[in-house]
Amino acid sequence: MRHLLSIADLDRDDIERILERAESFAEVSERDIKKVPALRGRTVVNLFYEASTRTSSSFELAAKRLSADVVTVKSAGSSVDKGESLKDTVQTLSAYDPAALVIRSPHAGAADLVARWTRASVINAGDGKHEHPTQALLDVATLRQRLGALDGRRIWIVGDVLHSRVARSNILAFRTMGAEVTVCGPPTLIPPGIEALGCDVAYTLDRLAEADVVYALRMQLERMREAYVPSLREYAAQYQIDGARLGPEQVLMHPGPVNRGVELSGDVIDSPQATITAQVEAGVVVRMAVLYELLVGGPRAPEPAPEPAEAAA
Ligand code: NCD
Repeated sequence: MRHLLSIADLDRDDIERILERAESFAEVSERDIKKVPALRGRTVVNLFYEASTRTSSSFELAAKRLSADVVTVKSAGSSVDKGESLKDTVQTLSAYDPAALVIRSPHAGAADLVARWTRASVINAGDGKHEHPTQALLDVATLRQRLGALDGRRIWIVGDVLHSRVARSNILAFRTMGAEVTVCGPPTLIPPGIEALGCDVAYTLDRLAEADVVYALRMQLERMREAYVPSLREYAAQYQIDGARLGPEQVLMHPGPVNRGVELSGDVIDSPQATITAQVEAGVVVRMAVLYELLVGGPRAPEPAPEPAEAAA
């Protein structure tokens, strides 16, 4: 495998292989010296065009723990501020001959484009509302640690599904691993046709008790150009996961960052059912495993074919 652009690039065997590798890297993370030489002398470029705490820090740590040289470029403070295009930025950074380029962008499809412009292996770290495949992998890893195999488990994904790349990647990954997925939220925040990804849809939390796992999503206010809910208070009244709605046996997940008091109440965030910190921890070892899979597991990527316009020039 050369790139990881979508979770659909992976079948169940691929996911299992990556997660097994992640488990072996978990042992490295427990050592005082948390490093293995797998990527010594190779370069990983992280290119983040959108806010990120967890994803950018964990990709950086993952690459460093594999002994790669790491450069992290954030759009703020870079030449992107001066109007440099994505393509020019990627071509500039590709001059360092990176083995991998990790890209987060507010635009759906950005990672696919980047993969055409560089010889590096490209990892999609979130492209607009489209996909966030490494988040899905770390969520499957976290759940397998808590529950074992996901076959037959019922997972409810609750909240702002419309704007969520995490929802899209996670529905696919959870289904691939044998779970049954229901998405739940106000009709305005459920994209029409989402059932085509293989999930059920619910518009109220009435049947939430059926779920083994409740996966709450952030209200992505930065992506909302109009009012999708009457108010956040109204939203919380109907859809917030709180101590009264969450059963004692249910596992609670959230990709972070959490809007405390909106999609989750403070008490459940800090409850033993919540896996939020475990998800962050899994993020490092799963990203180590993805880098390993792309850079060590397979042959060095060949030169990309030139784009038609360039070929004609
Ligand atoms: C998510 C993202 O950016 O897509 N966060 C993350 O990567 N951990 C979800 C979110 O921002 O709500």
